[in-house]
Amino acid sequence: ADAELGTYTHFMEKEIFEQPAALENTMRGRFSEDGSTAQFGGLNISAVDLRQVDRIHFLACGSAWHSCLVTEHLIEHFARVPVEVDYASEFRYRNMPLGNNTLFFTVSQSGETIDTLAALREAKRKGYKVLAVSNVVGSTIAREADGGVYQHVGPEIGVASTKAFTSQILLGAMLGLYLGRMRDMSFSDGVEIVKALKGAPDLVRRTLEQAPHIKAIAQRYAHFHDFLFLGRLSLFPVALEGALKLKEISYIHAEGYPAAEMKHGPIALISEKCPSVFFVSSGEMFHKVISSMQEIKARKGPIIAIATEACELPEGLADEVIRIPECHEAVLPVVATVPVQLLSYYIADALKRDVDKPRNLAKSVTVE
Ligand code: G6P
Repeated sequence: ADAELGTYTHFMEKEIFEQPAALENTMRGRFSEDGSTAQFGGLNISAVDLRQVDRIHFLACGSAWHSCLVTEHLIEHFARVPVEVDYASEFRYRNMPLGNNTLFFTVSQSGETIDTLAALREAKRKGYKVLAVSNVVGSTIAREADGGVYQHVGPEIGVASTKAFTSQILLGAMLGLYLGRMRDMSFSDGVEIVKALKGAPDLVRRTLEQAPHIKAIAQRYAHFHDFLFLGRLSLFPVALEGALKLKEISYIHAEGYPAAEMKHGPIALISEKCPSVFFVSSGEMFHKVISSMQEIKARKGPIIAIATEACELPEGLADEVIRIPECHEAVLPVVATVPVQLLSYYIADALKRDVDKPRNLAKSVTVE
């Protein structure tokens, strides 16, 4: 066994459990002294220029692309700046009209993904400033970008991204806060978000305590061949990421959808043979998600609910319930990701898959 693994069996497992510390490292030194906003040392763009930005275009691949979809939600919500998210591989070949005050961000854990690098070069060629979010200091994307933010979560060895993904979403919330505070967001709203962000490592730690419960569920569900992952708003991209994790390491077919969109197609797949993983949080979407769950239940689909503590689920609706702490919307997608990481990890492990080196996949794809 690898000495670096310590008491863990796989790097993916280690990296999942490392997340509280990884998130601390992502945030370290990145809040203003007055505790009302985020600060970044390497953006290399003045506050005046940043204030002029009226659209932000994110480019990425794989899990990093999912993280951008969460970030889109958070930036639009906190800063009211319109955000566009593209697959890096598609952006390059699209002929899309771009505005003058558009800022580009590429997001890449490795900083070496060729599609993302090519998209960065294309955006620069068009005369735009391109910033990067990356975990690898000195990586090609980090070097070629005009500035950016390092994730500081330490090396990620498992092919399936875990701590890098949650750190990217956390940075998305911090960017939303930063851009929001130089626009309409009040001091007190800023303070509230900073407090919530600082609490993320602890919320993740509490969620990780569910591991034995999630492992038991995984062992009961590992024999299924199809899964749906369903969530709304910022939890829709978390559903996409949950489905991707399961596909990548267990080779089980899975799809992520916005919960309400499920009735426009995926519901045809539902039977006792296709479980659905639902994200349920209290708030405006609660009742709508419950009614989507009822539609699944009426068609005999097994349901695994990942629900915040305050959600009172109707008796007998979910077959399995995984509880996560009630939390601020700035950190909810981070916290909600943890159970799907654990679920896919334990399912893949139950199936004896090569968790850290799944077939056909590479940690970083450097050919187009
Ligand atoms: C590969 C990996 C994925 C990763 C994607 C983007 O496909 O298997 O886990 O999300 O590349 O990688 P990057 O390093 O650019 O974030």
